[in-house]
Amino acid sequence: MKIFVEELKEGEFITDQVFSIEEIQQHKTRKNNPYYRLTLQDRTGEIAAKIWEDDFANCHVRNVERGDVVKIDAQVQKYNDILQLIIQKLEKTEDYDITELLQTSDKDLDQMFADIKKETDELRNSFLQKLMKNLFNDEDFVKRFKRSPAAVMVHHDYIGGLMEHNLEMINIAKAQLSSYPEASKDLVIVGCILHDVGKVFEIEVKKTAMQKTKPGWLIGHVVQGYEFVKSKLPEKFPQNLWMKLGHIIISHQGEVEYGSPIKPAMLEAAIVHGADYASNMAKQYQRALQLGEGKEPGFSEYQRWIKTQVYVE
Ligand SMILES: [Fe+2]
Ligand SMILES: [Fe+2]
Repeated sequence: MKIFVEELKEGEFITDQVFSIEEIQQHKTRKNNPYYRLTLQDRTGEIAAKIWEDDFANCHVRNVERGDVVKIDAQVQKYNDILQLIIQKLEKTEDYDITELLQTSDKDLDQMFADIKKETDELRNSFLQKLMKNLFNDEDFVKRFKRSPAAVMVHHDYIGGLMEHNLEMINIAKAQLSSYPEASKDLVIVGCILHDVGKVFEIEVKKTAMQKTKPGWLIGHVVQGYEFVKSKLPEKFPQNLWMKLGHIIISHQGEVEYGSPIKPAMLEAAIVHGADYASNMAKQYQRALQLGEGKEPGFSEYQRWIKTQVYVE
């Protein structure tokens, strides 16, 4: 029977358990002995794992890559209050149930969608409201939107991650709006919901991991999102309003080096960008805390995106 990440208990030894590989890297101990560090995942979450040199013979890690599914025997250990797996046997397997392995938001997908819809029902601008209706009446889109992650890796990179990210941003943005009453609340809320809508087309599931689609690599979610929203504009949508909303979408990544064709040039765009950044940033710290200590005592592994290791004690 499958034991899920959230069910693992300190001290138990698990056998023939199936997990998906999120990351695998070889490292060296202080004494210069090789070992592997992995991040394994299933529907319920992620866990750090190690393979020490003594167990290499029973662990077939050659050709194992991100998204592959492995069957393992492992000891569940607590290290600085965080569980990790010490793997003693590992082999690739094709025998798995994908619904058990695809990491999914711990929040209810239908509830999150209802919360997002409620925000759009409260819009005062009838054109923006009509636009959101057009989008949410597109069943195929809604199906994809509800399951979409917000990223391939690192932040909200799981089923339902996009909606979770959107709702987090709405909370952050609302706090800002209370200090900046001159900003259009409607544009900010719609901006939070639509800024990353291109992720729906940018990312797909390969085996059990998220990866970029071909259009994702070649066009990217910023332009894909802009084009998609444009195709859903209701009749007589004011040109000026589309220019503003379009600007919020294409400028949301902030700096040009982070993938924005243009920097935020409106108060509403700055609020959406700030909320996006805040949501992504905090999520990366949270994930580092959940995975626990890395090579350095008291600190997580180096986090490439936030360019630091996180203090985890
Ligand atoms: Fe984005
Ligand atoms: Fe985002």
